[in-house]
Amino acid sequence: MVKEMRLDSNPLPVHKHKNLFVKFAVSFLLMGLAFRLFFPDSFTFSTQLETTSIAEDQTESPVASSPNQTPLPFVLPDNEIQISQNETDSKSEAVKCDIFKGDWIPDSSGPRYTNESCHVIESHQNCMKNGRPDSGYFYWRWNPRDCEIPRFSPERFFDLMRNKSWAFIGDSISRNHVQSLLCILSQVEQAVEVYHDEEYRSKRWHFPTHNFTLSVIWTPFLIKADIFEDMNGVSSKEIQLNLDKLDKLWTDQYESLDYIVIGGGKWFLKTAVYHENDTISGCHYCPGKNLTDLGFEYAYRKAIREVLNFITGSKHKPVVFLRTTTPDHFENGEWFSGGYCNRTVPFKEGEVDMKDVDTVMRNIELEEFEKAAEVGSKYGVVLKLLDTTRLSLLRPDGHPGPYRQFHPFAEDENAKVQNDCLHWCLPGPIDSWNDLAMELLVNGDKYR
Ligand SMILES: *[C@@H]1O[C@H](CO)[C@@H](O)[C@H](O)[C@H]1NC(C)=O
Ligand SMILES: *[C@@H]1O[C@H](CO)[C@@H](O)[C@H](O)[C@H]1NC(C)=O
Ligand SMILES: *[C@@H]1O[C@H](CO)[C@@H](O)[C@H](O)[C@H]1NC(C)=O
Ligand SMILES: *[C@@H]1O[C@H](CO)[C@@H](O)[C@H](O)[C@H]1NC(C)=O
Ligand SMILES: *[C@@H]1O[C@H](CO)[C@@H](O)[C@H](O)[C@H]1NC(C)=O
Ligand SMILES: *[C@@H]1O[C@H](CO)[C@@H](O)[C@H](O)[C@H]1NC(C)=O
Ligand SMILES: *[C@@H]1O[C@H](CO)[C@@H](O)[C@H](O)[C@H]1NC(C)=O
Repeated sequence: MVKEMRLDSNPLPVHKHKNLFVKFAVSFLLMGLAFRLFFPDSFTFSTQLETTSIAEDQTESPVASSPNQTPLPFVLPDNEIQISQNETDSKSEAVKCDIFKGDWIPDSSGPRYTNESCHVIESHQNCMKNGRPDSGYFYWRWNPRDCEIPRFSPERFFDLMRNKSWAFIGDSISRNHVQSLLCILSQVEQAVEVYHDEEYRSKRWHFPTHNFTLSVIWTPFLIKADIFEDMNGVSSKEIQLNLDKLDKLWTDQYESLDYIVIGGGKWFLKTAVYHENDTISGCHYCPGKNLTDLGFEYAYRKAIREVLNFITGSKHKPVVFLRTTTPDHFENGEWFSGGYCNRTVPFKEGEVDMKDVDTVMRNIELEEFEKAAEVGSKYGVVLKLLDTTRLSLLRPDGHPGPYRQFHPFAEDENAKVQNDCLHWCLPGPIDSWNDLAMELLVNGDKYR
């Protein structure tokens, strides 16, 4: 894909080359069966990790003492934190800051939690424990060009979230994200796990002191999907996707949620047969099937639109963040062909171009979000864009790489190890996603 990179500032040049690069993007995804690295959602967490973390959560006292209960100078009525479509409507400052535009600057304060203070880091993302030798990637801070954003304050978060319920909805990246939040919150109160599904993919935690509920709902397509994969991610049959039906796993819980972070994307690159109106309408990468190849972007747009229509049309009105797609950083190959990500410092703006698939996905997200936000604003729906794609693109140094495994080079320093350049180390750059979400939540009016 490196050859296929192009400037992400080009406004949608991709459509011209759509078929070419889509086939390219997809051909590599089909080559192997080891989808499991890229999409290890079907992995159970290590049972050992699970049991110890639950036990520790319940017995250990909170790391920090209970927060100051000083009243906050703000309340959170839904409409106060709504996206303003018309800047002149807003009474706040004339110049608005885009908190997603900026750069990473050195920051000596370091991570706010470690593998010792946080017990819920999934082993594949526990880079410290797995022996990653460098730690420079801890010492950077996201710095928006036109404004400053504070670090996430768990005390402040808990104050706002008393009696509330928050869910992350999506694929393994959502799980990566929820772990970051759990780790940050664990400085104040340890979570008690109250639910997990059979495969440990969907989970729910409760923070008794603050009566706050946090969950992650595994629904990699967000829409109704029949997936025929075993625990190793080996697929026995094409995925069947119903483009006009949402996955009930999350819609059934919708009314119990006050805050939602929803996102997806990468699973749409897989081979799939598309259904609409209960009949087959086409497919994506299905040679020999005598079906129209509609391309993943057709399905992704329909899915995102379906999700946003549900949200804007629902009587229940939680605060909803749409998180944009997350980039990977495989270099000199892909995950199945020896690609790796051994950089140890961030890119500077302009030093890297977004890959085509990410550009296509993010553009779909942005376009559908714009439309939905406009509709939603008429009905008091609070929809926020958590546009983390570009800031994440600048962090090739934040992935586990070979350190998705415990001490991969212990036996043989030249061992051939599969790299993970998609998920993020914890602690790591993904922690900044929570700073940004928090800031959008409490000071949304200040930003574009
Ligand atoms: C913003 O709203 C005002 C009045 O509500 C209108 O006059 C103005 O044209 C709008 N500006 C934009 C950029 O839409
Ligand atoms: C945390 O990581 C360090 C290396 O940075 C390691 O020595 C230690 O055993 C790890 N602790 C846990 C609980 O995983
Ligand atoms: C939380 O719920 C309890 C019990 O229903 C109630 O007494 C309390 O006032 C609520 N707190 C907030 C901040 O809503
Ligand atoms: C906790 O919050 C729920 C609402 O999410 C509320 O129904 C319940 O009464 C609260 N419990 C306590 C002990 O505050
Ligand atoms: C599905 O049905 C609706 C209404 O019956 C129709 O408007 C739409 O074109 C159909 N879509 C497909 C892909 O057949
Ligand atoms: C492919 O499908 C079309 C229409 O559904 C049908 O007319 C044609 O015979 C099929 N071709 C093959 C090789 O099955
Ligand atoms: C990354 O790995 C490549 C290939 O092994 C090597 O040439 C390069 O020097 C490494 N870069 C860093 C920063 O370690």
